[in-house]
Amino acid sequence: MKGIILAGGTGSRLYPLTKVTNKHLLPIYNEPMIYYPLQTLINMGIKEIMIVSGRGHAGDFLELLGSGKKFGITLNYAIQEEAGGIAQALSLTEDFSDRENIAVILGDNIYEDSFDISDFKGGARIFLKEVSTPERFGVAEINNGKVISIEEKPAKPRTNLAVTGLYLYDNKVYDYISRLKPSHRGELEITDVNNRYIKDNEMDFQYVKGFWSDAGTFESLHRASTWKKIKEEQNED
Ligand code: DAU
Repeated sequence: MKGIILAGGTGSRLYPLTKVTNKHLLPIYNEPMIYYPLQTLINMGIKEIMIVSGRGHAGDFLELLGSGKKFGITLNYAIQEEAGGIAQALSLTEDFSDRENIAVILGDNIYEDSFDISDFKGGARIFLKEVSTPERFGVAEINNGKVISIEEKPAKPRTNLAVTGLYLYDNKVYDYISRLKPSHRGELEITDVNNRYIKDNEMDFQYVKGFWSDAGTFESLHRASTWKKIKEEQNED
């Protein structure tokens, strides 16, 4: 299994913090944001990881993370020229995947949980978390233990189950992305990819335990930092 961290996009919701740097280099309390998804993949046992970033600050990722040696992994880098959506960023990793299964994590997703994915053989898997503001996320509907639909940021969510920013895919994902059309916001949407797997009855899911947050808004960035601070203080006791 290869790992992919998506760290492109514009970070416009964090402006002006993101005027001169990349969102994923901002601090979550005492570490740069990108350390958290990186550690989540490392905890899953993944040793080869590609980071997709925007053009502007790619050199800063290299300077911060280097070859990956200090983390005991190998890092590769790709550039997303324009913020064309999560699925578009993912499409850039096809050669790197080398036809293996992939674990994809969004660079602004912070998980306390660590995941055992050794049973994943093919198809796709999403990771769900109950939230109080589902309208901010992809929202999943479950019936008889199966995911039956995902809606991207619905005005009237049918459930409070957010689709968090971690996904497992087999190599069909690249073929599915190549057939996508841009959404109304002009992006290739990961939710459309996931709905394709659902249609083919090839999607399963896992619940996320413990703390989870994105960190792409002032509110969620602050929430994630506060969680980390409390965790560090508990470790000192
Ligand atoms: O955090 C989980 C949510 O992430 C999911 O529930 C949604 O289904 C999914 O669409 C996504 O929603 P957001 O609107 O919050 O995604 P955002 O545009 O903030 O992008 C999240 C990360 O994806 C960002 O930190 C970097 C990466 N990204 C995003 C875009 C648009 C890229 O690498 N390239 C891109 O073009």
